[in-house]
Amino acid sequence: MGALTGTIRVPGDKSISHRALMFGALAVGETRVSGLLEGHDVLATADALRAMGAAIEKTSDGEWSIHGVGVGGLLQPDQALDMGNSGTSTRLLMGLVASHGISATFTGDASLSGRPMGRVIDPLGQMGAGFEASPGGTLPLMMKGSLPAVPITYRLPVASAQVKSAVLLAGLNTPGVTTVIEPVPTRDHTERMLKGFGADLSVELVEGERHIRIRGEAELKPQTITVPSDPSSAAFFIVAALLTPGSDLTIENVGLNDTRAGLIGMLQQMGGSIELLDEREIGGEPVADLRVKHSALKGIEVDPQIAPSMIDEFPILFVAAACASGVTTTSGLEELRVKESDRLSAMAAALTAAGARVKETGDGLIIAGTGGAPLPGTSGEPVTTHLDHRIAMSMAVAGIASSAGVEVDDTRPIATSFPTFETLLAQAARD
Ligand code: S3P
Repeated sequence: MGALTGTIRVPGDKSISHRALMFGALAVGETRVSGLLEGHDVLATADALRAMGAAIEKTSDGEWSIHGVGVGGLLQPDQALDMGNSGTSTRLLMGLVASHGISATFTGDASLSGRPMGRVIDPLGQMGAGFEASPGGTLPLMMKGSLPAVPITYRLPVASAQVKSAVLLAGLNTPGVTTVIEPVPTRDHTERMLKGFGADLSVELVEGERHIRIRGEAELKPQTITVPSDPSSAAFFIVAALLTPGSDLTIENVGLNDTRAGLIGMLQQMGGSIELLDEREIGGEPVADLRVKHSALKGIEVDPQIAPSMIDEFPILFVAAACASGVTTTSGLEELRVKESDRLSAMAAALTAAGARVKETGDGLIIAGTGGAPLPGTSGEPVTTHLDHRIAMSMAVAGIASSAGVEVDDTRPIATSFPTFETLLAQAARD
């Protein structure tokens, strides 16, 4: 593949898109969203919200209109809610159902059905919801919301924006004040957007921990939302451009919320040339255009503290590390084992098959880079993506940075978060 040049725009942010639909579905009146990500995960959220009474329609490409039912107004769905591959849809919608007087059944694909739901069942159970889950606290599960639900103060045992959001969303229809204490900050789109929709939500820093309080029985006002491009999707193009000789690529309109942008600092520390142009704010989120040029990368030790701000970007960071000079060490990444796949073992296996030198530890990978030379690539056997979009896209980028190319067993999961990935890659390589 040739150098990546020109200007591209990746699709809308997945986290913000889910939330735009959910909060729009709870506001009374019309919410308009432009730049919505039209990936399978977000469409699963839209379908579930329709099944619970919201009117959601696409008016043109990326433009959506939502007529909400009001907080407390969700209706009982008459069929199981199929969440596909999407953990965010599942956990956040479980939060909403928890404080409505309705029951719902959640199902998902093989990947989602292996992921832990106990982390949301625990706090939502404390708020009064009832659950019948599959063994190990997994999908399929049936839940019964509680009306009224009981407000709680919940200290997050894992750094998870999905768990935080599930409790806050349950708090929306719960009398009194629901509090989440977050020892380690995670993505804060729920807090920012709920405030934008008029919820009574406050964030206070107490001895280094974030105390997030939401007053329930809220009334949400409809909004007009512009969704910035997803930094987690931009990440694949950033690394592809850094690794491909001759590249000079501009990626427009990328969301750079501090709780999401950890990868950029890491890659700059590795020697990557990434310039932030025209820094501005869109819809309450910081954004910039990123200009990325081919660079010689060097290995680093990644501080585990940075993990929550780049939690979805480790697979692609591992690819960058595999082509850098020297060793990159990561640790404190146990959470990666419960994503769409076990991303530590999946990436260790896939990169090893592509000829990289990788050692898997209990909580990270240690990668000795090629020193800037291409990876050998795969020969014969395709690498296994385990229904994980980010493994598929990361290994596609590894393929670009290899001599023989990398064969991937299944590219279909890419459509969960980035349906235009292959088209945009072809466009950037041609420009
Ligand atoms: C997300 C939170 C993260 C992230 C996921 C999206 C969100 O999950 O991995 O892709 O939108 O809240 P965790 O909460 O499990 O860390």
